Amino acid sequence: MSAVELRNLKKSFGRVEVVQGVNLTVRQGEFLALVGPSGCGKSTLLRMIAGLEAATSGEIEFDGKVVNSLDPKQRNIAMVFQNYALYPHMTVRENMSLNLRLSGVARADIEKRVNDAAQLLQIDGIMDRRPSQLSGGQRQRVAMGRAIVRNPGVFLFDEPLSNLDAKLRVLMRAEIKALHQKVRTTSIYVTHDQIEAMTLADRIAVLNGGKIEQIGTPIELYSNPANRFVAGFIGSPAMNFLAGKVVNGKAVVPQSADALPQVPVADLPEGTAVEIGLRPEHITLTEEAGLPAVVSQVDQTGSQTHLVVDVFGQAVTVVLEGMVMLEPGDTVRITAKPEDIYLFTASDGKAVRARPEPRIREKRA
Ligand SMILES: Nc1ncnc2c1ncn2[C@@H]1O[C@H](COP(=O)(O)OP(=O)(O)O)[C@@H](O)[C@H]1O
Ligand SMILES: [Mg+2]
Repeated sequence: MSAVELRNLKKSFGRVEVVQGVNLTVRQGEFLALVGPSGCGKSTLLRMIAGLEAATSGEIEFDGKVVNSLDPKQRNIAMVFQNYALYPHMTVRENMSLNLRLSGVARADIEKRVNDAAQLLQIDGIMDRRPSQLSGGQRQRVAMGRAIVRNPGVFLFDEPLSNLDAKLRVLMRAEIKALHQKVRTTSIYVTHDQIEAMTLADRIAVLNGGKIEQIGTPIELYSNPANRFVAGFIGSPAMNFLAGKVVNGKAVVPQSADALPQVPVADLPEGTAVEIGLRPEHITLTEEAGLPAVVSQVDQTGSQTHLVVDVFGQAVTVVLEGMVMLEPGDTVRITAKPEDIYLFTASDGKAVRARPEPRIREKRA
């Protein structure tokens, strides 16, 4: 297993710099998710780590050794792609064995490794089939099997579950997690799906426009987003932002200054424009003071009630536990606890104050 270090890594295509100086350390055995919107440079970054794309500048190190000049075969990595890239004319067993055969591994060793991986992935019953005779989930398992048998120092995943339907994606996500817990191979997992990143990763790097916005554990990113971009990207449904400003040293919604708990903002001058961030799951309805809101949409999931409400012309998403009987046109008041209110400066989107430590429930004995 290898640790991976990226130092000021850049990539330009023509005049366009799509990776703009990335610094990142992936620890040995860690599962790191690289998440960001489509086109932000995730695949390009991963392909540079794999050696499929040359870096324009900067360094890539595996276990303290610069690997920039090594080709993919010499890097001891295995990559799993979205489209599986299986050979259609070969059986599952042949697909999984091919790379080992090409590298001259002894026949008995190949057989053992392929059988072990097949067992681990529960595909031992389909080893003689061809890809066309497999379901999407089975193909994905074979693609992972082909990566595992090589016993690589680093696993690189590029949106491996994007082609699967929602139910299968959740299932395979759990399998990838279980697999990593067994083999503990250093893994870098690219996805645009923040839920996938949150549930799989030890740490997440959020990429935007070729730059890393923040690196941290899922809970750190959720509780302490460094800026508005990360706050809006991590969490589902996405955080709401209300236009606010600093009045008497506190951030308020100007149309209704007493409506939300007032959060002190020591370092910002009077009148500074801020954005007040409210996560849908932190908003509650209140009979007393609260932001006046008009319900525009009600969706019942059974366990939760999802609302869209209008607050001074801004749409706000609210998630309430249980079935709350409301209809479009109803007026309500919404609020949130002071510790659940996020603040960002409107000018540059930076988080205004450190959020309190997340309250993590004690494990029951
Ligand atoms: N070979 C290439 N030549 C020119 N532009 C490219 C090439 N590969 C990717 N790009 C551009 O680089 C940007 C980042 O692409 P990519 O890394 O694939 O993003 P992501 O995987 O995050 O969706 C995109 O604007 C894309 O069009
Ligand atoms: Mg991509």
